[in-house]
Amino acid sequence: AASLKGRDFLGLVDYTPEEIRYLLDLAIDLKKKQKSGQPFQPLKGKTLGMIFEKSSTRTRVSFEVGMYQLGGHALFLSKNDLQLGRGETIWDTAQTMSRYLDGIMIRTYAHRTVIDLARGATVPVINGLTDRSHPCQALADYQTVLERKGKLQGLKIAYIGDGNNMVHSLMMGAAKLGMHMAVASPEGYDPDPEVVKNSRENAALTGGSLLLTRDTREAIENADVVYTDVWASMGFESEQAAREIAFKNYQVNEEMTSYAKKDYLFMHCLPAHRGEEVSEGVIDGPNSIIFDQAENRLHAQKAVMAALMS
Ligand code: CP
Ligand code: NVA
Repeated sequence: AASLKGRDFLGLVDYTPEEIRYLLDLAIDLKKKQKSGQPFQPLKGKTLGMIFEKSSTRTRVSFEVGMYQLGGHALFLSKNDLQLGRGETIWDTAQTMSRYLDGIMIRTYAHRTVIDLARGATVPVINGLTDRSHPCQALADYQTVLERKGKLQGLKIAYIGDGNNMVHSLMMGAAKLGMHMAVASPEGYDPDPEVVKNSRENAALTGGSLLLTRDTREAIENADVVYTDVWASMGFESEQAAREIAFKNYQVNEEMTSYAKKDYLFMHCLPAHRGEEVSEGVIDGPNSIIFDQAENRLHAQKAVMAALMS
């Protein structure tokens, strides 16, 4: 899609269902090419700057490797090593970096920072996770479900746990792709009402739906996909003890998943805490596809970079 060239990738909210499906198809195609050793290098001579304000294993490695495989080069930039860490403004950083780079990926806390970076940059900006969303992960996740189930429309995805960045991007993706999503979270840890409202509006256009409940069984009943994430995300570590109490009935385990479809898929963006948000038996069991998800970060992000930057 020529229309994706030069665009930012800040959230799935900005992409139409057709554009998301185009990226998913491209990701699957690029995966095939890579597996069969067929080179695809539309980004020869191009560079991606990667700003990290938080830790990362998957995002850093998959973007860096992906950029290399596309023929380009990626730079790892830790916030503390940049003048940004000493108070240089986002605007000046964005303007300066745009003079060298063909794209910028950023992982940060406040979503506002990504919006401001995109406003100041003249090259595409890609959201590599904020406190509000994680669209690259959701794109890779729906690629993974599509590969396994052959479709997305009409499937039911249950998310159990914290109303965090991950569930926000999953909700928006599910809504755009015509899926039925059910989210069970304890009181005080609901997803952001604005994202819920926006997702519901989008679901109404695609035949999807979004249910919010406290009842994990209601959420998980008949689900094709069961997803969970950590109870305390990066930046919320100090709340760990309080969250362990609040989430104690929200562990995805064998009892809970017995209400899902027999061939349900267990998913987690990783990193995971076995014995907290998910039992060992479930995350390491036969329904778990966590490492396929992790792998698809590479292919999905290659699709995004190829579409936006070539
Ligand atoms: N899922 C994910 O984004 O992992 P990292 O924090 O390791 O990048
Ligand atoms: N919700 C988690 C996702 C990590 C990839 C976090 O923000 O820490």
